[in-house]
Amino acid sequence: MKNDIKNILITGSSSGIGLEAAKLLCQDGHNLILPCRNESRAEYLLLKIEEYKNLKCNSSQNIQAPILDLSKIKSVKKFSENLLKSKEKIDILILNAGLQYTGSPSPRWSEDGFELTFAVNQLSHQCLAQILIPSLSKSTKPRIIITSSEVHNPLTPGGKIGKPAYLGNLNGLMSSERFLMLDGSSNFSADKAYKDSKVCNILMGQELSRQISKRNLNISVTAWAPGLVIPKSDSGFFRHSRKYNELGQRLFALAARDLFKITETPEKAGYLLYQLAISSKFYNTKFRYYSNKIIGFASKSFQEEDISNEAKNIDLAKSLWNKSSELLGL
Ligand SMILES: NC(=O)c1ccc[n+]([C@@H]2O[C@H](COP(=O)([O-])OP(=O)(O)OC[C@H]3O[C@@H](n4cnc5c(N)ncnc54)[C@H](OP(=O)(O)O)[C@@H]3O)[C@@H](O)[C@H]2O)c1
Repeated sequence: MKNDIKNILITGSSSGIGLEAAKLLCQDGHNLILPCRNESRAEYLLLKIEEYKNLKCNSSQNIQAPILDLSKIKSVKKFSENLLKSKEKIDILILNAGLQYTGSPSPRWSEDGFELTFAVNQLSHQCLAQILIPSLSKSTKPRIIITSSEVHNPLTPGGKIGKPAYLGNLNGLMSSERFLMLDGSSNFSADKAYKDSKVCNILMGQELSRQISKRNLNISVTAWAPGLVIPKSDSGFFRHSRKYNELGQRLFALAARDLFKITETPEKAGYLLYQLAISSKFYNTKFRYYSNKIIGFASKSFQEEDISNEAKNIDLAKSLWNKSSELLGL
């Protein structure tokens, strides 16, 4: 057990990358807040952590799995405000939960009437970050880490497949009506909605960083891309998309993982997230973006990377933040 015990909140730790990072952080003895969408996911997660602890360590820190459904603004606000009121310090906030349902011809909607990918991957995460900044500022070296994706960038190999990410002037978000796509397009694409949400993640990181330095706070804000993570099991990130194209998704997974070896394991991606959380190498006073980049056959390098041109647009970052803040009622 380390001396420097931190309070760490991770969204999306009931599965995949978040779960693997949570196990490693638990092994180091940190206190963990691991919100889950419902009781059964919370029970599953606590069981997984307990199994891991019995196997690897005997630490006895505080590990909680409160209920937080990121598709419900009311749930996110209540959770964050209660945490703020508890006056508990948060050292590290990891905004990692995400979903994709590529292949679906029609949109899915959140409780509040937002397209689900935007609601879960972006809007709810801004809500958490915006409300919890005072809890982070109690820490000596606080960090916010946001899990984005290389597909946010139309110039990367992943970003080139299918419709590219494009937010334009956020005409959809700015309209007073229920919108299909953030750029205002009336052609729904679940794949593009996901890519767009990942541009939003980086814009949010930049805007957070700008606001933090304006307020003279020392919170490190980092976004990162884990690479293509496809486990051998039937679980994993692509389980939702698989429902719409079972054969295509399975063939893609086989080719990417077993033939071309361009995928990453959840364990390794979880380790990278763990490093981002605890290594002093990744504590930055300026916004940074890292990517687990393919550099050769079965070979990757985790390095600082350029973000897409659209993600660099500071005015767009401000507009996204301000409009989202208004929609969240903050
Ligand atoms: N896998 C990849 O290839 C890949 C590539 C680039 C970026 N990413 C990003 O990496 C992050 C983690 O993905 P992963 O690969 O670990 O996928 P995953 O195994 O599907 O994990 C996603 C996590 O998000 C949670 N989540 C989704 N909707 C939620 C909601 N409404 N309320 C609360 N929690 C919710 C899931 O909860 P449940 O367990 O209840 O479903 C799960 O814990 C995501 O942001 C994803 O966009 C993944």
